[in-house]
Amino acid sequence: MRSEERAVMRVLAGERLWPPPVWMMRQAGRYLPEYRETRARQKDFLKFCYDVDLAVEVTLQPIRRFGFDASILFSDIFVVPDALGYPVTFEEGRGPVLTPLSREILDHLDPDRAEAHLSPVMEILGRLRAELPAETTLLGFCGAPWTVACYSVAGHTTAEQTAARIGAYSDPETFQIWIDMLVEASAAYLIRQLDAGADALQIFDTWAGVLDDAGFERWCVEPTRRIVEKVRAVKPDAKIIGFPKGSIGRLKAFAAKTGITAVGLDWTAPLDMAREVQANLPVQGNLDPMRLVAGGQALDEGVDTVLNGLGGGPLVFNLGHGIVPQTPVAHVEQMVKRVRGAADPF
Ligand code: CP3
Repeated sequence: MRSEERAVMRVLAGERLWPPPVWMMRQAGRYLPEYRETRARQKDFLKFCYDVDLAVEVTLQPIRRFGFDASILFSDIFVVPDALGYPVTFEEGRGPVLTPLSREILDHLDPDRAEAHLSPVMEILGRLRAELPAETTLLGFCGAPWTVACYSVAGHTTAEQTAARIGAYSDPETFQIWIDMLVEASAAYLIRQLDAGADALQIFDTWAGVLDDAGFERWCVEPTRRIVEKVRAVKPDAKIIGFPKGSIGRLKAFAAKTGITAVGLDWTAPLDMAREVQANLPVQGNLDPMRLVAGGQALDEGVDTVLNGLGGGPLVFNLGHGIVPQTPVAHVEQMVKRVRGAADPF
């Protein structure tokens, strides 16, 4: 099957499909017993990401179980800073910890080492394309520079990324150097992912929603626009999903300025505003992952609201953010069954 014939690719090209294709952000993860079993074989999370056999295995696990329409490469947004030589570690129970940003760290980074360092990811994508069902879209991804930089300022995650905002406002020069390095490295990385077998790409900007207007323009829109431009200079038809979380009021402008193909919506997006965005480009989302934890009627109602609210246009059914570890597997089955079994309301 040709890439453009796969269901998710058809929606990204602007087609409305019923039922809409479905996948989940963080679909390979700790809610799956088979993921936990595989993960136990490699305690170091970054080593796990670069281990070709283990990464291919956990990427395929949710496809085998649920037959999702898209498979997302198992990796993490921090492989890019890691490839540049930025100090990154993953601590159990705490998640990623990056050494706080300084000129000194930036001076010691080496963009030339990234290509060789990220080669295992290309091998993983090649293996995945060969092993996935022909109709399954293979998605590559990277973190948006702003979100990657947020963790490099604070060291770890904080609710409003106050340290990153203070850092970006008080020393924009240092911040800009880091963002520029991330733009270059991310664009090169995404181009290689397409060469290695990815059908389409997603750029995760989890912390876009904490910025003021000027900050959003400079640290979210502009870096994303430059990545899209660099990728399309080499791959003119590249399909790229943007996910600036928490930015519904800015999505129309974000899409127009960045040239992104489609946008991910988080669960807080009002449906009327979401439909306005969808008038111009395909959307992906946006079930609240906590409805998936709750299950039952709350889950059915959430699924129906997304289908009835956004199913009239090009839609890739997804969550509004990643699935959380405490989600029962049976609830994922319930969600997929309901999406695939829904009568077309339009
Ligand atoms: O979606 C997928 O299944 C593909 C794999 C994927 C992971 N992380 C695997 C992962 C993707 C696309 C990501 C993106 C990512 N990573 C983002 C952007 C999207 C988002 O969720 O906001 C961010 C901010 C990160 C950084 C990150 N990685 C954090 C904050 C954490 C710790 C929190 C947590 O969920 O544990 C991780 C670790 C991580 N990345 C895990 C997985 C499956 C869990 C680690 C484990 O198995 O111990």
